[in-house]
Amino acid sequence: MSERSYKTVVRVKEPVSKGTPVEHVPLPELGHKLIPKERYTSEEFLELEWQTIWTKVWLLGGLERDVAEPGDYLCTEIGRESVIIVRGQDNKLRAFYNVCPHRGNRLVEPGMDQVDSFVCSYHGWEYGTNGRFVSIPDRELFPQGPPCAGLTEIPCDTWNNFVFFSLNPDVMSLAEYMAPIAGHFEPYHFDRMTVVRDLTVEWGCNWKTSVDAFNETYHVAATHPQLLWYLNDMDVQIDCYERHSRYLVPFGMVSPKIERVPEIPPPLKVMLSDAGLDPASYEGPIDGIRKAVQQHLREKAAEEGFDYSDLNDDQLTDDYNYLVFPNLTFNTHADHLMLFRHRPHATDPNQMYFDVWMLHYIVDEDELPEERPRHRHFTAADRKSLGMVIDQDGGNLPKVQQGMNSAAFQGLWLGDLEVRLRHFHKTIEDYIQEYGPEDALNE
Ligand SMILES: [Fe+2]
Repeated sequence: MSERSYKTVVRVKEPVSKGTPVEHVPLPELGHKLIPKERYTSEEFLELEWQTIWTKVWLLGGLERDVAEPGDYLCTEIGRESVIIVRGQDNKLRAFYNVCPHRGNRLVEPGMDQVDSFVCSYHGWEYGTNGRFVSIPDRELFPQGPPCAGLTEIPCDTWNNFVFFSLNPDVMSLAEYMAPIAGHFEPYHFDRMTVVRDLTVEWGCNWKTSVDAFNETYHVAATHPQLLWYLNDMDVQIDCYERHSRYLVPFGMVSPKIERVPEIPPPLKVMLSDAGLDPASYEGPIDGIRKAVQQHLREKAAEEGFDYSDLNDDQLTDDYNYLVFPNLTFNTHADHLMLFRHRPHATDPNQMYFDVWMLHYIVDEDELPEERPRHRHFTAADRKSLGMVIDQDGGNLPKVQQGMNSAAFQGLWLGDLEVRLRHFHKTIEDYIQEYGPEDALNE
């Protein structure tokens, strides 16, 4: 086979009706300045983020299906706070601070369960699933009455089968917060997907170091050289919206950095056979594999029961990767979703929690696992493998964080393929300017 050029990506021109918009949004002018390293290393900046970002935005609590029945609750942590999201007997979802207003005790541990009511383990104060008091033992001992009506409620809403909460009582609506990407995920129908993996690992880096690692393809060649035989790391469509961003990475082709491709590389053979095509009998050109896979998946979707009718052809192969500000990475694919949540440590800017949810499209209910996989938590010492690619990313992170703390390092020096990082910092600056002290950004 002759040498080929893979410089051009043919993108779908017409979005399908109801589909994910594919139009490229002109990049905003973001300049070229250095991003100060203190944003990643200083306790002051961590606190500034707490005051101006974490307590102001909408945050992912968990999966709506995990709180499907009255009495179902999940408890999630963000920084110093712990939040309960519970479906009340009236079927309404509500979020509360996980704090007993009597003496401050936590009511439940992180995780999920089902309850009739929440009973504080310290003195037995009891709250309904609507957050209101059910009973206070020896009530006559409080002649001043109870301190409040019950648990402190905070905003709660759902989006694409996920439950969100906000620590900001005056937060804008979730729909407004998600605009203009609010409808982008609807064609994937996440409600047809089931959780196959749910875990948290502790990483020795700032939460943004982790966000950044999934926000650019510039690192693919050095960090994931095997992926150069599987995807196009250079012709990536990058769209920056008001606070969120995305890139569309073509899968099923070889990187333009690979000069000679004498035969179908093994990763593309795997892609062909995964799609149900025999690599040995594939006779088209190597740069036709992506289209061939898309067409074949489209044709066999109906007979296998997959509904891809709202997805465009590129979505059948490519990674539509979204950053939902501030801390969600959605790797969306036709038959699965890989969702990352990057959470800060409460006090240490050099530590974070990396949450992974893997969801698979299930056609046949018989394929459903008998029980939902339990959430598992691993410390850095556990050295839990998350698969080759994420392990390669995770391996970089503590070293990057250590280097950032060096006197030799001034800050992030970003190139054009890293523009989403620049946009991410612009959004962070916008929040600090809106909610922080006037001189907060005099770095
Ligand atoms: Fe990576």
